[in-house]
Amino acid sequence: MGKVVIDMSMSLDGFIAGLHDSQEQPLGENGAVLHSWLFNGDMVSKHSTFFKLTSENRDVLDCSLDSEGAGLTGRRTFDIVGGWGGSPPGGSPMFILTHYPPEDFMEGDTPFTFVTDGIESAIKQAKAAAGNKVVGVSGASTAQQCLAAGLADEIHIHLIPVLLGKGIRLFESLPEQIQLELMRIVTDMDVTHLFYHVK
Ligand SMILES: NC(=O)c1ccc[n+]([C@@H]2O[C@H](COP(=O)([O-])OP(=O)(O)OC[C@H]3O[C@@H](n4cnc5c(N)ncnc54)[C@H](OP(=O)(O)O)[C@@H]3O)[C@@H](O)[C@H]2O)c1
Repeated sequence: MGKVVIDMSMSLDGFIAGLHDSQEQPLGENGAVLHSWLFNGDMVSKHSTFFKLTSENRDVLDCSLDSEGAGLTGRRTFDIVGGWGGSPPGGSPMFILTHYPPEDFMEGDTPFTFVTDGIESAIKQAKAAAGNKVVGVSGASTAQQCLAAGLADEIHIHLIPVLLGKGIRLFESLPEQIQLELMRIVTDMDVTHLFYHVK
């Protein structure tokens, strides 16, 4: 079975979104800077022409999307991005943790599964779909549950040199210390990509 990788852009003070996130401002107040590394170059990803990347950032993104066999996130992220219009970048099957599956949502090429029986079940189903590829995890609540349950193998942080001050913290309310081992660093203008193994 493949690995479970938490993969998110984060401010230096630990936020993955600002306050008052919504469909109008998906990353909250002042939060758009967190994804600026995806749009500050002139090269496109092989997976999507949406992103405009520097060469280093394109390699990081393409490597991540190449390795992904399934995605897992929470209902807040799903709603805020409008379910990616049914076609998330990467195109692998998506699993959404929710208490209330939507009766209706925009369907595209990508299969969506709404999981109501907890993080363990969500990871099990996503791993089965991913085969020997990676389950990419995003959403702060979803990532925290994954870490708390000991289900995450790696954490990939795209660290943005900004102090957001307020918003949604990635590492909130973890029940105990979690030891990490740094595997790789890639630096580029306006972002440092940090790749950790969860011990
Ligand atoms: N910086 C980045 O790279 C990045 C990447 C992705 C997302 N984001 C941002 O992250 C924010 C969303 O993160 P978040 O932590 O607020 O929310 P989230 O993890 O996306 O979703 C949380 C929601 O999922 C459902 N849920 C979570 N755990 C569940 C469980 N065990 N069983 C059933 N349902 C469960 C609940 O919704 P219901 O009770 O309503 O079903 C919960 O409110 C957004 O601002 C988004 O734009 C940032």
